[in-house]
Amino acid sequence: MLEQFVVQGGQPLKGSIAISGAKNAALKMACAALLTDDWLILDNTPVLSDMVIICQILEELGAEINWKDNQLSIRVKNLKTHRARYDLVRKMRASFVLLGPMLARFGRAEISLPGGCSLGVRPVDIHLNGLRAMGANIELEDGYVIATGQLHGAEIMLHCPSVTGTENLVMAATLAKGRTILHNVAKEPEIIDLCNCLIKMGAKISGHGTDTIIIDGVDNLQGTTHRIIPDRLETITYAIANILTHGHIYLTNTEAWCFDALTSCFPEVKIHHTDFGFLAEGPVMNTVNLTTAPYPGLATDLQAQMMVLATQIPGTSYITEAVFENRMMHVPELCRMGADITVEDIQGTNRATIHGGVPLSGAPVMATDLRASVSLVLAGLCAKGQTTISRIYHLDRGYHALDEKLNACGANIDRVKQEAA
Ligand code: UD1
Repeated sequence: MLEQFVVQGGQPLKGSIAISGAKNAALKMACAALLTDDWLILDNTPVLSDMVIICQILEELGAEINWKDNQLSIRVKNLKTHRARYDLVRKMRASFVLLGPMLARFGRAEISLPGGCSLGVRPVDIHLNGLRAMGANIELEDGYVIATGQLHGAEIMLHCPSVTGTENLVMAATLAKGRTILHNVAKEPEIIDLCNCLIKMGAKISGHGTDTIIIDGVDNLQGTTHRIIPDRLETITYAIANILTHGHIYLTNTEAWCFDALTSCFPEVKIHHTDFGFLAEGPVMNTVNLTTAPYPGLATDLQAQMMVLATQIPGTSYITEAVFENRMMHVPELCRMGADITVEDIQGTNRATIHGGVPLSGAPVMATDLRASVSLVLAGLCAKGQTTISRIYHLDRGYHALDEKLNACGANIDRVKQEAA
């Protein structure tokens, strides 16, 4: 049954929150387990519904999975099937990253096309064209990508720095014959972490974190143990919660660099590194003009949370979403809570104009995607009165026990069955 959050706003927040491992690194490392017949052991794995789905898909493919607290162990000795089913893949687009490693090790992969999602069309041409350049034969049959062949190295220019596109091609190249050079790749910290994990498995990779990654294929990879980096998106989400509520929440199990996007967009924010953890403090008084972009630009995954912060800054701020075409669905919901935001389409990108400094008030709102959902929780925490957020299953995809973590700091968030509410 669907669940919803009932948030009583205005509670003073105080305490500490342990940040989980990065979802966008953990998901891809789980896919990397396909590259070896040995155990891959991932420490600091976030316990999220997206991780449960990727493990379910891997199990169907033939993987052995042991999950104990935050340690996830995966071993893929052999495949039972080469097919990752539509019903599972459609639940989580990141599972398309199984394609590269499965094809590279087993010479065949059948993965359902993920299809569009609420953020827009989201093509996978970079993944498919890259694998074709590496010698894969790719056919589309009944909504499935059927990829076959032995891969060889290639020099490939990505037409835009796709995160999962980069990851799929890097993993495929680790077992391809010869050298692969990928230009215009994505540079996210999670990709660097994935490459570091692959290197521990025996892959020969250099240049990760720059525009060009070079991979020299090897015959096989072995198992390893790897600790996943902290989730910078979760870190900044809670830091914004603290600033919005004038709270005193220490963030632990995270690192100073995880705050970089916050301090570069809002230079007034102070990050105190104390014995109890990191404390992010405002006030933020200066308006902002932000545009999302591939890393090291502002992450589109932080746009919604930063918009809530902008609603509380007196004056006019602007936020432009330049990565995905349809990622401002939180705006009408925030407006229902009293925010003064208008969105205009400027040559295919959405620009929000935020007249800030307006107090928010509780309202029933609906979550539409992962980051939009969490922005509504942030708004609910600093709003006057009660906010009811429906469809919170989006939130559980990317935030482990968000209600429990915040309630332990004095928030008042009830998770209730949607019907009973
Ligand atoms: C990843 C992240 C997601 C984040 C996004 C952008 C994971 C699981 N998800 O998604 O949280 O919001 O990066 O930082 O890591 N594109 C193409 N052709 C392709 C692939 C992408 O044109 O083959 C375009 C997309 O339409 C989009 C842009 O590239 O405009 C960026 O998308 P991409 O980096 O691929 O996003 P994901 O990897 O799906």
